[in-house]
Amino acid sequence: MDTQTRQFKLKEIFNVAAVGYDNPALRFFVQAANRLADSMALTGSEHILDVACGTGAVSLACAERLGQGRVTGVDLSEGMLEKARAKAALRQLDNVSFQCTDLDSMDFGGAVFDGACCGFGVFFLPDMEAAIRVIAGHVRPGGAIGITSFAGEVMEPLATAFIERIQGYGVEVPPLSWKRLDEVEKHQALYASTGVNQVTTEAVQVGYFLTGFDEWWDVLWFSGFRGMLNQISESELARFKQDHQIEIERFATDGGIWLNVEVLMSVGHKPQAG
Ligand SMILES: C[S@@+](CC[C@H](N)C(=O)[O-])C[C@H]1O[C@@H](n2cnc3c(N)ncnc32)[C@H](O)[C@@H]1O
Repeated sequence: MDTQTRQFKLKEIFNVAAVGYDNPALRFFVQAANRLADSMALTGSEHILDVACGTGAVSLACAERLGQGRVTGVDLSEGMLEKARAKAALRQLDNVSFQCTDLDSMDFGGAVFDGACCGFGVFFLPDMEAAIRVIAGHVRPGGAIGITSFAGEVMEPLATAFIERIQGYGVEVPPLSWKRLDEVEKHQALYASTGVNQVTTEAVQVGYFLTGFDEWWDVLWFSGFRGMLNQISESELARFKQDHQIEIERFATDGGIWLNVEVLMSVGHKPQAG
């Protein structure tokens, strides 16, 4: 698939996903964003670039930590950005703005940012190394560049139960893009290849107990899993849901159903000039 078609498809997927991206069942995005913003060690007056900002989880987390500073969030999906703008307005954050642009078309007139973030975005980009270089090109020397990705046994054992069942309906499971960055070594190699240094990578758990099957269904419905559910008929979907509920409820404990979300978070620094 060529780059343009790939981007068009991503844009379409995220314009649709925007509706449910901020559903409470998916609150791990917000929790990971808060951890990333903490790791950026902001002093309060920086101007931060948030690439692939989506509905603004990282942008808003940074903006809340920047008394004097501000955040510029960019994303290729206008649907996601609409949600981001609405949330910023609701929280009365006037130090954050959003632009609809793809990573390669960003133009801010040089290395004007004090730091940059990209939460759960890098693994969508065809050339991850080139992407980090592009991001670094917008950051002043010494500035921090932070990213997050999923790692380990994400949403297991629930995800495997889902995948095995949906495969029984003849649905093909697409390659999982986040697997491109699911190990510490992969993060370290990516940063090393771009010259961004002083890298620290941390594994964090941002999972929680879902109240029940309905919340797990929200996770499926409002995430990448939806693409697979869309491939079966309405009657098959009803049967699928009923049978899947029985197998998922076997994982319920007194606290609820554990949603395991392991995240890798790396922060590196653009080398000082000269
Ligand atoms: C999983 S969401 C992450 C959103 C947000 N950063 C967060 O942590 O919740 C991935 C986002 O990457 C955006 N994206 C993918 N490719 C992009 C590109 N080439 N340029 C800009 N944004 C892109 C998508 O539109 C989507 O909003």
